[in-house]
Amino acid sequence: MSQAEEQQPGPARAQADDARLDDDARLDDDEPRPDDHERATRRRGKTVHGELANAGHRVLAPDDAEVEAYLEVALDAGAPQRPDVDRPGGAVPRGEGSGGEPDTVVVLDFGSQYAQLIARRVRELHVYSELLPFDTPWPEIAKRRPRAIILSGGPSSVYEEGAPRPDPAVWSAGIPVLGICYGLHLMARELGGDVVSFAKREYGPATITFTDDSPLFAGLDREQPVWMSHGDSIVAPPPGFRPTAQTASTPFAAMADPARRLYGIQFHPEVGHTPRGRDILRNFVLGIAGARPTWTAANFIESTVNEIRSRVDAQARESGGTGLVLCALSGGVDSAVAAGLVHRAVGDRLTCVYVDHGLMRKKESELLRATFEKNLGMRLVMVDARERFLARLAGITDPESKRKIIGDEFIRVFEEEAAKLGRIDFLTQGTLYPDVIESTTPETKAAQKIKTHHNVGGLPDDLRFTLIEPLRYLFKDEVRLVGLELGLPEAMVFRQPFPGPGLAIRIIGEVTAERLDTLREADWIVIDEIKAAGLYRSLWQSFAILTPVRSVGVMGDGRTYANVVAIRAVTSEDGMTADWAKLPYDVLGTISSRIVNEVPGVNRVVYDISSKPPATIEWE
Ligand code: XMP
Repeated sequence: MSQAEEQQPGPARAQADDARLDDDARLDDDEPRPDDHERATRRRGKTVHGELANAGHRVLAPDDAEVEAYLEVALDAGAPQRPDVDRPGGAVPRGEGSGGEPDTVVVLDFGSQYAQLIARRVRELHVYSELLPFDTPWPEIAKRRPRAIILSGGPSSVYEEGAPRPDPAVWSAGIPVLGICYGLHLMARELGGDVVSFAKREYGPATITFTDDSPLFAGLDREQPVWMSHGDSIVAPPPGFRPTAQTASTPFAAMADPARRLYGIQFHPEVGHTPRGRDILRNFVLGIAGARPTWTAANFIESTVNEIRSRVDAQARESGGTGLVLCALSGGVDSAVAAGLVHRAVGDRLTCVYVDHGLMRKKESELLRATFEKNLGMRLVMVDARERFLARLAGITDPESKRKIIGDEFIRVFEEEAAKLGRIDFLTQGTLYPDVIESTTPETKAAQKIKTHHNVGGLPDDLRFTLIEPLRYLFKDEVRLVGLELGLPEAMVFRQPFPGPGLAIRIIGEVTAERLDTLREADWIVIDEIKAAGLYRSLWQSFAILTPVRSVGVMGDGRTYANVVAIRAVTSEDGMTADWAKLPYDVLGTISSRIVNEVPGVNRVVYDISSKPPATIEWE
């Protein structure tokens, strides 16, 4: 699922939304810049509660995860337990026209900030890639029948005491291996070469010269700009290897033993700063390893739909039930795509529940109904709980109290609706691959803590539901491609994240019906103009906040005393840190004059120029 494919027009729109909601601006590449990780770690501040910013008091994963968690609590469902080896298409016999089990490239993670990115780059070549901890025992790796193995970079030095090492069978299994940076050093050191600490640390852009006709560099000019980041260097390659590239500072910037199909490179092909890096990965994955490029949205849908159908049918046969599946829709992309897949598999046996808490953005509930009910013909229970939520929020101004009340009311509503549906056998969730990776990697305890309630833990004995998590192998950009392939409207598939408590935490002070209307109108204008300017997909979020401040203004001959609306637009990789977006003045100007002219009760617009940390993205 490549960028190129991303740019192709999606399938027929399921519904005609506002033309600007369907802008065709490109998805920005969300690859981290080389120094982002370090910057993020250094700059991450404390929340008012004393925890690391965004590591505890809020659900990082936006809306979908939060709404799913409410449903889980309401249904008393257990956390998912993941089988050891469970791969996309694994349960489907490979047959004519079937996606079946895709060829796999295993990426062993030695702690590089780019490890996930390597897996994503491989998948962009339409080859399935799985990220495993560096010390995964060989039998676990072998179960995946990998066509190739990639060893990521990492912060350690190979000659250090306790340096991370892979199972040695990796070297002798006869499977092509590509070592990147630390992976190269490992390959050199473990197979009999020599690695030393480099006098001159090489960090940043460099020019590499290929010194050998390695198939890894087929089709590339001999000189290439690459991205380096290493403090160690090879001084003697192992027996059987020959150097294949050099830089001004090392004659062993790459090496290969073609007979054993072992390749190592000092630079990072996965980052954008190595412009032909993708070609090098393509040469390795498709050329040297001969993996078949069958990992496409269409194949994924086919095999996943078959899998879900056989699971639900089998359960229904065994239990004598009907195999009813429940899904909580939040309006976010993950739950929408998960529901789309399950619906294709089991049709009317899926019921989606959407709680309209009245805190959604303008036209959002309508888009949801039109998409799921009218266009896809799904069974959709749309609960109009607007009055209930407003009543409980009356007089509440404290942000955390708002969150608690909204969460609590959500659970009550879900409980009532679930009770009406009778016996439910399955619960569908939009858990994504990064959630799965994070809940198994000890380094990401913070993320684990945030998601404890919906991602990890044991299975209780009295579990009443089985979870269906059709997206657990997918990265977010892949989910979007699957959504488009399923026929979901672009306005839904490319939505910016939106918090579970919705506009309630963007109204500073009390939430009332009138203030919600004011904010909804102002927010609509922000999104509309951002989309018109072609900026929507390059921003992590862009929205309006209704402040509790009123200011004096002048309109016509009279003075006004009215609300101040703030605009927030940020760029971010993952919401953990964010920069305020340098929006063009004319876009800001148009937003401001439209809001003041079109939204009753607002006479002033300000732009929030704070980054996170120390500010958060949301105002509450
Ligand atoms: P903050 O405001 O903490 O937001 O910088 C980081 C990301 O999380 C989203 N967010 C929430 N999502 N429930 C959610 O589901 C919440 O209570 C919540 N608060 C913040 C926010 O929109 C941003 O993407």
